[in-house]
Amino acid sequence: MEQGKNCTIWHPELSVLLDCQIGDDCTIHAHVWIGNKVAIGNRCKVQAMTFIPEGVTIGDDVFIGPRVTFTNDKHPPSEHWSETLVCDGVSIGAGAVILPGITLNEGCKIGAGAVVTRSVPAWATVVGNPARIYKLGEHQFGKHATQEKKVKDDVKGFLKFVDSFSPS
Ligand SMILES: CC(C)(COP(=O)(O)OP(=O)(O)OC[C@H]1O[C@@H](n2cnc3c(N)ncnc32)[C@H](O)[C@@H]1OP(=O)(O)O)[C@@H](O)C(=O)NCCC(=O)NCCS
Repeated sequence: MEQGKNCTIWHPELSVLLDCQIGDDCTIHAHVWIGNKVAIGNRCKVQAMTFIPEGVTIGDDVFIGPRVTFTNDKHPPSEHWSETLVCDGVSIGAGAVILPGITLNEGCKIGAGAVVTRSVPAWATVVGNPARIYKLGEHQFGKHATQEKKVKDDVKGFLKFVDSFSPS
């Protein structure tokens, strides 16, 4: 296992961390399995009892709740593995199951207990089994929140500016 700077790995003796890469400033809780060739970006959090097998690649600022299960073989035991990509800023709720060959696009949210069978669009929220889109386009955390606030402030400022020309 290769780990970046300032990582906190709680009770490494209770986890299986194979030949994987973990970026800077990550926190890995106890009883986690991270398989060979898994790459995890910077500032990610992986909570207890999560399973991340080979074939999964995770970006930056990703939150993975407790007891999340990623899968890599759709028809086991076929040994045909599919790649799963988790883009920057994704948040995965407790106990979610992610089927193989899926992309969780930037900033999407996976509800607790969801079974995700298809790729999820950026910024969407999905819930349920099979997971369905419940909300589109909400991003409210980390650096994305700052970006969203800036856009909202810019729009407000522009509307005020337009308003200042209206006859009173
Ligand atoms: C998916 C989630 C982000 C939605 O949050 P939200 O936008 O505030 O949604 P609300 O709580 O307003 O719920 C909206 C609707 O979705 C339903 N819903 C919410 N989360 C759900 C879930 N995980 N699975 C199924 N349905 C869910 C609610 O019952 C509600 O349905 P209704 O409108 O018919 O009453 C959140 O519920 C969730 O699952 N977060 C993950 C929590 C977690 O696991 N944290 C781990 C760290 S401890």
